[in-house]
Amino acid sequence: MSRRLSFYVHIPYCIKRCGYCDFNTYTPAELKGPDLLSVSSNYIAAAISEIGLASEAVGMVEVPSIFFGGGTPSLMPAHELAAVISEIRSKFSLLPDAEITIEVNPDSVTPEFLDEMRTAGANRISMGMQSAVPHVLQVLDRTHNPENVAQAVANARSAGFEHVSVDLIYGVPKETFADWQSSVQSALSLPIDHISAYALIVEKGTKLAAQISRGELELPPEDETAEKYRYADDQFVAAGFDWYELSNWSKPGGNCKHNIAYWDGSHWWGVGPGAHSYWNNRRWWNVKHPNTYMQKVSEGVLPVSSEENLTTENVADEYIMLQIRRKEGIPLDRLSKKQIDNCTEYLATGHLDEQCWQDGKLVLTQTGRLIADRIVRFLVM
Ligand SMILES: C[S@@+](CC[C@H](N)C(=O)[O-])C[C@H]1O[C@@H](n2cnc3c(N)ncnc32)[C@H](O)[C@@H]1O
Ligand code: SF4
Repeated sequence: MSRRLSFYVHIPYCIKRCGYCDFNTYTPAELKGPDLLSVSSNYIAAAISEIGLASEAVGMVEVPSIFFGGGTPSLMPAHELAAVISEIRSKFSLLPDAEITIEVNPDSVTPEFLDEMRTAGANRISMGMQSAVPHVLQVLDRTHNPENVAQAVANARSAGFEHVSVDLIYGVPKETFADWQSSVQSALSLPIDHISAYALIVEKGTKLAAQISRGELELPPEDETAEKYRYADDQFVAAGFDWYELSNWSKPGGNCKHNIAYWDGSHWWGVGPGAHSYWNNRRWWNVKHPNTYMQKVSEGVLPVSSEENLTTENVADEYIMLQIRRKEGIPLDRLSKKQIDNCTEYLATGHLDEQCWQDGKLVLTQTGRLIADRIVRFLVM
């Protein structure tokens, strides 16, 4: 078994919930608290306790990456996140070249926060840009002014962050093709080395889903959303950002080690409410609400809500589902004859890369990436 473990640290707080988001995050109003600092003040102590419990469970292992995600980690005082890094360093062997990412919101991230986090050892920033177009941000119900993104990226670079990424979302109601072109060009004008671009998912129970079902908003046609992917991929590649996963592009040396750990079946520990963990073919997830989470951890027990043991078949299917999204693709010798027969028709249609196939790997072409889910269904049955 690998003696490496990545850490995901969930910060379950946001100032305001964006209309499209169904992540496990809470606003002060939902927590019935006066402000975020008072509702979240005990949270980091609980997260630190969970790290102690993790160390009892897995012993001394190497930590190649830490990812603070959310929610909005940039709402926390920097010294609190720094304390989490120190705790991981003291309980585990944090590798000298470990990647430490902080997800930030361009509205709440300050130069002081960035300086303090850099000093604490963080070396990668992931910023929720989503769009450069005000009316698209409005549909997404985002609070930030698009100009804040350039300022926040510049601040991250001045603080010494060598790796800076932005997240974009496309296929949003009212977003024209020209709007998307403008978002892509705006992202490419920034001094960044990584871009994630996700097609909008309308999550059940969100404000956006309700607006769409009431007919107040309409999703753009699927063909146009596919064209937006092609446009982004062409532009990113021309600017020196190579795709390394279906929704992720990076300059040389800029790919996200932490996400690669999720995709290549490595082990990770998710700290915080609702966070998932994977260790030794066992997957578990924590209780969802921060208050229940803090209560459980304060009793000295792992705050696990549920768990599953993965069978050999589960592991093999997950490997295919994740690996097909990656540029390395799937070595053909990992597939059965039936699986290979099931997908050869996609070679003729240009969805699978002919040269890679000759070289013994199943790799999606740009057209193939647009129907990755359909191709997966032929491989995982
Ligand atoms: C959990 S969010 C956290 C980032 C940070 N709180 C922010 O919003 O800037 C991580 C990323 O997931 C993506 N995301 C969240 N909800 C999505 C949805 N419904 N469809 C597509 N992408 C989504 C966004 O690009 C977002 O930046
Ligand atoms: S998208 Fe980000 S800022 Fe908006 S509610 Fe979700 S986690 Fe919070």
